Order: sequence, then structure tokens, then C-alpha cells
Amino acid sequence: MRYEEQIIEEVRERNDIVDVISSYVTLKKRGGSYFGLCPFHNEKSPSFHVDQNRQMYYCFGCGQGGNVYTFLMEYNRMTFPEALKQLADRAGIKLPEQEMSPEKRREADARSALREMNKQAAIYYNYLLKSSRGSNAMNYLKSRGLTDETINHFGLGYSDIYPDDLYRYLQSKGFTDYQMKDSSLVVIDSVRGNRDRFYNRVMFPIMDPGQRVIGFGGRVMGDGQPKYLNSNETILFDKGRNLYGLNYARRSRNRAIILCEGYMDVISLHQAGFTNAVAPLGTAFTPGQALLLKRYTEEVILSFDSDGAGKKAALRALPILRDNGLRASVLSMTPYKDPDELIKAEGAEAYQKRIEEARPGRMFELDCLSENYDQKNPDSRTEFIHAAAKNLSRIEDSIERDNYVTAAANRFMINRKELEKLVERYGMSYQLEQAGDRYKKEPETRERREEKKKMSKNQPQRILLTWLTDYPELYPVVSKVVGPDDFLTPLYHSVAIMLFDQLEQGEELKPARIIDRFTDAEDQKEVASLFHAKLDFGISEEDRDKALTDVVRKVKLASIEEQMVHTSDIVEWQKLIRQKKEIQELELKR
Ligand code: UTP
Ligand code: MN
Repeated sequence: MRYEEQIIEEVRERNDIVDVISSYVTLKKRGGSYFGLCPFHNEKSPSFHVDQNRQMYYCFGCGQGGNVYTFLMEYNRMTFPEALKQLADRAGIKLPEQEMSPEKRREADARSALREMNKQAAIYYNYLLKSSRGSNAMNYLKSRGLTDETINHFGLGYSDIYPDDLYRYLQSKGFTDYQMKDSSLVVIDSVRGNRDRFYNRVMFPIMDPGQRVIGFGGRVMGDGQPKYLNSNETILFDKGRNLYGLNYARRSRNRAIILCEGYMDVISLHQAGFTNAVAPLGTAFTPGQALLLKRYTEEVILSFDSDGAGKKAALRALPILRDNGLRASVLSMTPYKDPDELIKAEGAEAYQKRIEEARPGRMFELDCLSENYDQKNPDSRTEFIHAAAKNLSRIEDSIERDNYVTAAANRFMINRKELEKLVERYGMSYQLEQAGDRYKKEPETRERREEKKKMSKNQPQRILLTWLTDYPELYPVVSKVVGPDDFLTPLYHSVAIMLFDQLEQGEELKPARIIDRFTDAEDQKEVASLFHAKLDFGISEEDRDKALTDVVRKVKLASIEEQMVHTSDIVEWQKLIRQKKEIQELELKR
């Protein structure tokens, strides 16, 4: 698809990258730059860098980078047109109607139709809840202690008893069977008739962090199976990468996020003032969700049900949180079943008190472990102590490990010295094991080798482009030998055309503008990395000239060789041979 370059540029210029990214990532100003924790990978110290002058971002940790469009495309998993639309709206710019390739148009249409369908369904369900047809559902929600305000806040609704009520409603709104087919809101079935997925249920719209409805959970009123029915996954609804309540929790003033099990827990926690509560979407907690949480917090409070299943779920979530760099603690809900019950029985203060008494994740794990052993039986207790030591030996930070050895020794009345020795022993064999695994790492694959080969072919072109961006003063020297057409890799060729043009005009370089020309996120990232591969010369002037000569020579020689492959004209061929010789003897001086 082609948008007017002018529009793309105008929209970008009217959306300052620092403003836009700040609403997703906490940035701190350092010198002339802004730094924060990278939202694209797990890290403890900030290597995510936003450059206001260049209107670009770059992560020195994971290599993600680009301009404000790239950021939105990556962060919100948007297409380029969606990112453009969002930024145009933000700046109050009206976009002209667009032409797209049929395939892209279909995909964009399907997404936006599904967004609209989910939105319309949520509005409709909410309308039904408030109408006389929804009085049972309304009574049910009230009996569960929800206020009108909460019901509105979460946009709760009701799906009626007629089997095709929503289907007809969506039809009246102009949606076709084809559009509804993969919505997971209705079942399109030409044999048995089209019907709704949800009927006679209380409806919980599930929103993405940007507050758009992407799916639903529906609960039976009273007993019945299944208790909750959820939307299947769709092109919008990825259960492993969204969390219920996160659209509000991300804006909560609390620095920690409470992770609980169910929709009702989230709602009653928010109603009680704990607006930092979220829950998975009817499936177990995933690493994708941990990474999502990591964008908003460092610390997660697990508030799962007090039954065996809740405990198991907590034990499974803890390592996932840990692996993604999140600190975790665990609340006890006993004697109540879940947060909803506890709050209803004892109120918000009691829940707050539970938070203050939270056990660190490790302690919770050790407690659970200890319950599997008979502490009065010496053999069983010995086994327990070994198992505990094994767990403790996995703690990487030595101070943290030492603190936990002390805490565990006290809590389970184990001789501290003995426990410490054991932990060290297990730590040692664990490290050996790991080193062994590293050694065993599979040999390089063919793809990887090809990739490397391609990289080394591209490398001189990359470096040269980066140098020209960082040191525009090299341009007069370089341009005597190399032109944009000498960049053989298509992506670099396009960049070179624009870069040489800007340099020729003697304008100030605008890397973000060059990125604008690429609407594919992968291309944008690659181009951005060109502009951020800061090359520190830190060497003598003579060596620097040598390095420059070397790179220019490599780029030019590759280009000449490529031309030789494609020429059959003998005169042309001889000219190329001469050129090749000249280049081999080239000495660049500034
Ligand atoms: P719970 O059974 O604990 O439900 O399941 P709840 O949220 O506390 O609701 P109430 O208080 O009983 O009404 C926890 C979560 O597991 C998923 C849902 O996401 C639910 O919120 N679940 C549960 C399902 O997806 N399907 C089911 O049949 C049951
Ligand atoms: Mn529950």
C-alpha cells in the first residue's frame, strides 16, 4: 500500500516520539536522551533509549528500534495503517482514503470488522442487561455484591435466551456471515442454522490494554456447566498474551500488580479499591503474560484460590514470573476460597493486611514442599532438607541465596551451617550440569550458516551506511567512489538512495524520515539498527582512514563483481576490470 509520503511524515512530526512512548514506558531523562526498561525483552537495567532529536528509539539490549510507527506496530501488534491511523487521530489529522493491495485490505478489513463486531456485541449485551430481558442477570450480579458503577466500569452484559439473538443483531448492523464466521461470537452453520455462542449468560467483555474489546467470558447464573464459557482465540484474541483487567491495572498507582484466578476476583478487587488486579483468561498463566506484566511492573502479588488447584497454579506461575525478571509474593486466602469471598466477608482492610503478610515466592515454594514430608520422621525430614537445599541452590544472587538459607534454617529449624554446605554442594553440581548442557548445544544448522554468510556479505554495506549517518562529513570522499546503486542488498539500496539524496542536498539528516518509507516492521527495525550501530572510531586517524577505505573497497568490489556477472559486452567487461584494479589500490584520505 502507498500513503502519500507527505502525510506519513506530517503525522510523524506531529507526534513527538518521547510523548508517545512515555504513555507506554516510564522514561527518565539522562543527558539529551531518554532511557527506560525495554518493553520488548526482559531486563533489569535500562538499555531502551529514545532519541528526541532523531525521533527514534533503540534498545542496546535486544536491538529493537525504529521510529514512532515502528514502536506502535511492535508494542500494540498493529499493522502500519493501524499505527498511522492511531497517530493521525492523536494529532487530529484526517487521513485521505487509501488504496491497499487486495490481500492487505482483506486482512485489515477482517481485523477492523472483528473489532467493530466485538464492540457492538459488548454494547448490545450491556443494553440487554439493563433492559427488562436482563433482570435475572442484573439480580444475579447485584446478589454477588456488584454496584451499578462497577457493572458499568467493566461493561458487563447479558446474552439472551434466544439461540440467534446476537447473530440477528449483528446482521442488522450490516455484518455478513462471512465476517462473522471467525468471530467466535456466533457459529455460522448452514445445516443446523446460525446460532450464538453465548446464551443466557452474564457477559464479561475482555479488553486489551488499549481498552478495546477482543473477546468475552460468559458465566452461567447459578450452577451449570461449563461455569464459564470463553471466546475461542481469534485474530484479535490471543489468550496467552492478554490479561483480564490490565486495561485498568496498567494505570493503577500501585507499583505491584495483583494476579488472581478469575474474572470475579478482579472485579471485586477493583471495586474494593485494588485497581491493580488482573487475571488470566481461562487458561494457565503463560510466559507471554509474564512479559506483558513486565511492561508495567517489577513485582507481582499472587492471589490465587486457597484450594489445591490454586496452590498448584501458584507453584506453576512462580518460576515463569522469576524467569521473566519479576519479583513475586504469595497471599493466603484461608479460610476463604478466593479474594472475592475474603473481601465480601472481611472487607478491603483485611485484604490489605494479607498483602502486608505476603510470603516471598521462594518461601511459599518451600512451605509447599515441606507439606509433602512427614517432619517427625527423620528419614522423611532428611529428604525434605535435601529437596529444600536443591531449590535454594538455584538462586543466582549470592546475597539473596544467603538470606534465604538463613530464613529457611530458622523456619524449618535446620542447622544453618549444614544447610549452607548442602546448598553449596547442589549449586556446584547444578552449575556443572549447566556447563555440560552448554557444551552439548546443537551444532550450527545449515540455515544459521547461510544466515551468517549473508550477514558477512551485507556487513560492509551496513557499516558504510551507518558511518555516513554518523559522520556526514565523510560524504564528499565516499561519494567519489560509491553511489547508491553499489548497495546490492535491496533494503540498503533503498536506504542509500534516500540517504545520498539528503546528504547531496546538504540537509540535516532525518533518519526517522527515511524509516517512514518502509511500512514493514521488520524493514523498519533493520533500518533503525543502521542508524544506531554507533561506531566508535576510538582509533588513530590513520587507522580510521584505513578502516573507511577497507569498507568502501568491499562495497564497491562486490558491486563491480556483480556487474561483471551480468555483462557480456567485452568493452564493458574490460572497463570493469580496470575499475576493479583501481579500487584494489584505492586509498581514501579525508
Ligand atoms: P473460578 O471457578 O474460580 O471462577 O474460575 P471465579 O472467577 O472465581 O468466579 P465465581 O466467583 O465462581 O463466579 C477462575 C477462572 O477460571 C476460568 C475463568 O477465567 C474464571 O474466572 N474458568 C473457570 C473457565 O474459563 N471456565 C470454567 O468453566 C471455569
Ligand atoms: Mn474463584
